[in-house]
Amino acid sequence: MEIRKTTDLDLTDVLQVESKAFGEAEGPEIVDLVKGLLNDPSAVPLLSLLAVNKDDAVGHILFSNARIMDAKDTVPSVILAPLAVIPEAQSQGVGGQLINEGLKRLTQSGVALVFVLGHPEYYPRHGFRPAGALGFEAPYPIPEVNANAWMVQELRSGVIGNVAGRVICADVLDRPEYWRE
Ligand SMILES: CC(C)(COP(=O)(O)OP(=O)(O)OC[C@H]1O[C@@H](n2cnc3c(N)ncnc32)[C@H](O)[C@@H]1OP(=O)(O)O)[C@@H](O)C(=O)NCCC(=O)NCCS
Repeated sequence: MEIRKTTDLDLTDVLQVESKAFGEAEGPEIVDLVKGLLNDPSAVPLLSLLAVNKDDAVGHILFSNARIMDAKDTVPSVILAPLAVIPEAQSQGVGGQLINEGLKRLTQSGVALVFVLGHPEYYPRHGFRPAGALGFEAPYPIPEVNANAWMVQELRSGVIGNVAGRVICADVLDRPEYWRE
């Protein structure tokens, strides 16, 4: 399997992966989110990676620009959203490989913090920790029952503990419906 950056030519594959992974209920909203983020100037720098197995696109991950309110520009930050693996390819490590490849590339480009709102049993396997207790507020308040779903990981040691505050996301992600669970 190959993991590579997407280009404009991959758009159909990317949206198909998102649609299949999230299914009929959530798919349309996620497809709109991805299309929006890929065209949102405030989401740049953006990292979009596609997992391809024998010419078939099987997974996609997107990281978009974020910042910590009141923090200096020295804390480059991103939000991971969404991550998608098509049902036929799930539980084979594709999601984990996309996360790890993304974190490797983000580290190389100097990103310090990566945030995610996601499954609290999944992302800690890849180094994420609950962000609220570490002083980071999500763009919109997360309901208490889902508090552990808001997570962070530092790619540069010593950042967590020295920086805190509300996280500001890209304009397209800046809608309350994306921050409920
Ligand atoms: C979540 C998702 C990206 C995981 O991708 P994947 O390639 O199947 O993940 P991996 O193979 O790296 O890891 C599989 C493990 O994660 C676990 N896992 C998958 N989804 C999970 C979830 N929602 N909550 C907790 N654990 C989950 C699996 O049970 C499996 O555990 P095992 O290794 O003990 O069998 C994929 O299932 C998916 O696209 N789901 C639909 C869309 C979605 O929910 N995206 C995430 C938004 S936060």
